[in-house]
Amino acid sequence: MSEKEWITVNPGASRRVIVTKDLPGEHWKQILQEADCSMEICTDPAVLSNEEIIARIGERCDGAIGQLTEDWNAHLFAGLRAAGGTAYSNGAVGYNNVDVAAATANGIAVGNTPGVLTETTAEMAVALTFAAGRRVTEADRFMRGGHYQGWLPTMFLGQRFVGKTVGVVGAGRIGSAYARMMVEGHKMHLVYYDLYPNEALEQYIADYSAFLVEHGEAPLTCRRLDSVLDVLREADVVSLHTVLDDATHHLIDAEALAVMKPDAVLVNSSRGPVIDEVALVEHCRSHPEFRVGLDVFEDEPAMKPGLAELDNVVVVPHIASATVWTREGMSSLAAANVAAILAGYPVWESDDITPFLSGKVPKAAPSIVNAADL
Ligand code: DGY
Repeated sequence: MSEKEWITVNPGASRRVIVTKDLPGEHWKQILQEADCSMEICTDPAVLSNEEIIARIGERCDGAIGQLTEDWNAHLFAGLRAAGGTAYSNGAVGYNNVDVAAATANGIAVGNTPGVLTETTAEMAVALTFAAGRRVTEADRFMRGGHYQGWLPTMFLGQRFVGKTVGVVGAGRIGSAYARMMVEGHKMHLVYYDLYPNEALEQYIADYSAFLVEHGEAPLTCRRLDSVLDVLREADVVSLHTVLDDATHHLIDAEALAVMKPDAVLVNSSRGPVIDEVALVEHCRSHPEFRVGLDVFEDEPAMKPGLAELDNVVVVPHIASATVWTREGMSSLAAANVAAILAGYPVWESDDITPFLSGKVPKAAPSIVNAADL
């Protein structure tokens, strides 16, 4: 195990927090500094092993900010607890990498970072939709490869989205934001699957449709369907916005892909294992008109064999939340979670987390997922 580089900010403070990756911005450091915390930050881009994290937790550690690339399991939480720790925050909204039950059993609060990724992630899903459907990266490679000999009526024909049907699997915050961007921006009908009806989204689209009609345009529809397969069957574009758990692991497998339209666009900015990537490679090989945009991968950072060679797949390295505002916001929220738990403050009760994004933050933890069980 090679020695990773760590730096310390605010040494000599009474509390000690480890931060497994350097985070953007300065505000998060101010939050922890105000809470009298020193920060030990790993500046090495390589993913830390659990042994390395345990070694850094050491004998005394009050809290930790970790990343979705790490496996925060029972062993790590027992180690943090033994070192006197009570607070952990993922630097992400998703926390499928965290054994929340183990954290709870060790009396450790688990924070996450909702409310700052919504539009940013949805925007990337939109970008992937168009990059895949309009063959942007394929055409970019063609240009750079020096193959462009002149305009042709038959070159790089892709999909037109206006008036077609967009499907969303998981109509939570990000899924709804994506749906609205596609419906409002591109006048698409919406079908979605979610365990629960999203009445606010349905009402919003009904109102938007009425507005269009008032302006002499065709109405749009929004329907919650009975199953994911129904969405896959009907939609011309499908974007995945589910959490990753046992129920959604390989939700999109060979059978699911087989019901999709042969020229559909599939986008995933949720978690890689929601798609059976081996089946996806096979499907894309046998359906060259089927197009895919992926931000996440089953064995991240690796891609399954064959994926990288497929022209009908656009791949980006899990950057859906990668805007300066969002990543700085995520850092502030993670720091505020840890600082507030260490100070004994309550959990923030509103969905509006903007007061935590600059200046002096409220005396509360913005988002603790196991608050009710501690
Ligand atoms: C998250 O926060 O869960 C995202 O995947 C990071 O982009």
